[in-house]
Amino acid sequence: MNIQRGAFIVFEGGEGAGKSTQVARLAASLRASGYEVVVTREPGGTAGAEAIRELVLDPEYSGLNPRAEALLFAAARAEHVSALIEPALASGKIVICDRFVDSSVAYQGLGRDLGAERIRELSHWATGGLLPDLTLILDIDPTVGLARAGQVNAAPDRMESENLGFHEMVRSAFLMAANEHPRRYLVIEADQSPDVIANSIATATTSLLG
Ligand code: TYD
Repeated sequence: MNIQRGAFIVFEGGEGAGKSTQVARLAASLRASGYEVVVTREPGGTAGAEAIRELVLDPEYSGLNPRAEALLFAAARAEHVSALIEPALASGKIVICDRFVDSSVAYQGLGRDLGAERIRELSHWATGGLLPDLTLILDIDPTVGLARAGQVNAAPDRMESENLGFHEMVRSAFLMAANEHPRRYLVIEADQSPDVIANSIATATTSLLG
């Protein structure tokens, strides 16, 4: 039996960009069109990776060594890709993932100054080279995004607690990635209405899925 491989769609963006809303909307609209869809997130997605998530985002470990942090995100990703994402793609499903490798490049590579290339290589090793078919970047000014995120989450996690300069670096890292590979990325201004954003996403995914 020859099952056609599924498609891997990733959402990226800074804090408070509204990714969760758009992930849910895209999943619902693809399911309504008859696709089998798996929604997942990073760090997390499997029991083991969710346990790593608890640890790596816990404000209790505010001084965690940046290399340890990068390795934990990569460890969670290795588990997530092998146990959930690859099997789902192999069985023809569409996988929608909230954050992936570009978050590591942005937060650990640039934000923590560990180097974009080094972090990309580490992630490449963790994933066996898996790349998204399409990455949707919800771009937002971090001043606006952090204020929005603060309204939703009473207690900021370790990343949200970083200063504005850190979040500006993160934003520029996402935009750089999109700039380098315009065919595999779509940058969407996240301060538009949720309906307008959802329409842009629908157009891009329709063209991806044919
Ligand atoms: P989450 O609550 O999912 O944030 P958001 O709702 O903004 O997506 O927390 C994930 C946090 O982890 C977020 O601040 C980004 C950070 N992160 C990294 O620093 N590196 C990574 O590789 C990933 C996947 C996430």
